[in-house]
Amino acid sequence: MVKICCIGAGYVGGPSMAVMALKCPAIEVAVVDGSRPRIDAWNSDRLPVLEPGLDAVVRACRGRNLTFSADVDRHVADADIVFVSVNTPTKARGLGAGRAPDLAYWESAARVVAAAASRSRPGTGKIVVEKSAVPVRTAEAMERILQAHVTGSGVGGGSFQVLSNPEFFSEGTAVRDLLCPDRVVIGGRDTDAGAVRALADVYAHWVPEDRIVTTGLRSAELTKLAASALLAQRVSSVNALSALCEATGADISDVARAVGSDGRVGCGMWFLDAGVGFGGPSLRRDVLSLAYACEGHGLHEAAEYWRQVVAVNEYQKGRFVRRVVASMLGTVAGKKVAVLGLVFKKGVRDTRESPAVDVCRGLLADGARVSVYDPVVGETQIRMDTAAVEVEVEVARDAYEAADGAHGLCVLTEWDEFRTLDYHRVFDGMMRPAFVFDGRNVVDAGELREIGFVVYAVGKPQDAWLNGMPAVA
Ligand SMILES: NC(=O)c1ccc[n+]([C@@H]2O[C@H](COP(=O)([O-])OP(=O)(O)OC[C@H]3O[C@@H](n4cnc5c(N)ncnc54)[C@H](O)[C@@H]3O)[C@@H](O)[C@H]2O)c1
Repeated sequence: MVKICCIGAGYVGGPSMAVMALKCPAIEVAVVDGSRPRIDAWNSDRLPVLEPGLDAVVRACRGRNLTFSADVDRHVADADIVFVSVNTPTKARGLGAGRAPDLAYWESAARVVAAAASRSRPGTGKIVVEKSAVPVRTAEAMERILQAHVTGSGVGGGSFQVLSNPEFFSEGTAVRDLLCPDRVVIGGRDTDAGAVRALADVYAHWVPEDRIVTTGLRSAELTKLAASALLAQRVSSVNALSALCEATGADISDVARAVGSDGRVGCGMWFLDAGVGFGGPSLRRDVLSLAYACEGHGLHEAAEYWRQVVAVNEYQKGRFVRRVVASMLGTVAGKKVAVLGLVFKKGVRDTRESPAVDVCRGLLADGARVSVYDPVVGETQIRMDTAAVEVEVEVARDAYEAADGAHGLCVLTEWDEFRTLDYHRVFDGMMRPAFVFDGRNVVDAGELREIGFVVYAVGKPQDAWLNGMPAVA
């Protein structure tokens, strides 16, 4: 029986290994993590990751061929294939702070694998699979760490091959994407053909062969960053256009629909929705990582190009906050503003890099009383995410409580329930004039205007009220 171990029981490690276990009942899959609370959560009825369909997948295989464990060393030592799926956030301090990926977790995982490899018997082999998003050539660095340990152990040790198998699923549709991926990319050296085949055989249990793409090691690593960068660039492009739509009276939905039907642009409307900006753990970090890599190779213009994708995203979030403040007569000090939605997109419980968090911070910094409601985020998380200024947000139990007594209401996540609120009731509870700022273009602006709201919607022709308001720098 093949044994698989995955280091990192996070948003990627948990769901991807659960689906692997589901589809490969003859393979034993252990997901390990240094965080005991995380492992306990995976072994409980309340999984740490919210993804449609995930509970059923985990229930079907946990205790059968899927284990979640904090005993990292033992499971790594036992495994034939070790996935490394640890977090690689942007560095917070030191060289490359705010730009380069922090590889500290990745290196600590590599050392765990190395220690296990050095203790293995000569003649045994491990395939190490890089799943984290990492800079190009990280796999080669992993090989060096492994090599140094195995040769330094003086006892021989087992052999190993390092492959790259980046994950492309989208949070919110992770299970669907994992069950039916557009493609699975496996990168390896020419000399790793056997290992590549072994990993491809695992995926072949449920992924059609023509969707299993094999590439060189470096190409696979770069593919992950490139995919994130192109998606982020698409969002920033449409958001940059949304600013011009507002200035000229064009409608970004019409423009995006017309542009998206052009086969050369491709993918229809996918990722052509204007909004308050992209979020989530990956996009910003991967684009910055790509720019940092360009910089490191002296490709300054290319680096600057990618940095602008992130800059436009920051601009879009700032523009939204300025729009709220300008609409409300240039000041939100002491005014209650309701924020509906904190996660970066519907269907997830993840607030990492969510534009809503930045909007809250911007409003708090300008003196607003911010009342937040999100259907899936608890009070502790909301307070942690928004704790940047001395003032705290208020946490509401529902959208009506958040809006009660508010001057303005910002819709920042496209949860379905925000489309179908009783906006007459919301309006009755709010101050006058009552503003709605729709950062996701989910409300029916026409209907809301009839009720009496002043409505701002990203990239849409502006409400008469909003024209001629004093600009806020
Ligand atoms: N979240 C996504 O949607 C997504 C999608 C595709 C790729 N990725 C990439 O996958 C990687 C993992 O992302 P994530 O969102 O799952 O991160 P995460 O923060 O949710 O999980 C990472 C886990 O790794 C554990 N960990 C770190 N170092 C460890 C060590 N040495 N030993 C044992 N456990 C360790 C942490 O405790 C944590 O639970 C990242 O590189 C990310 O860029 C993420």
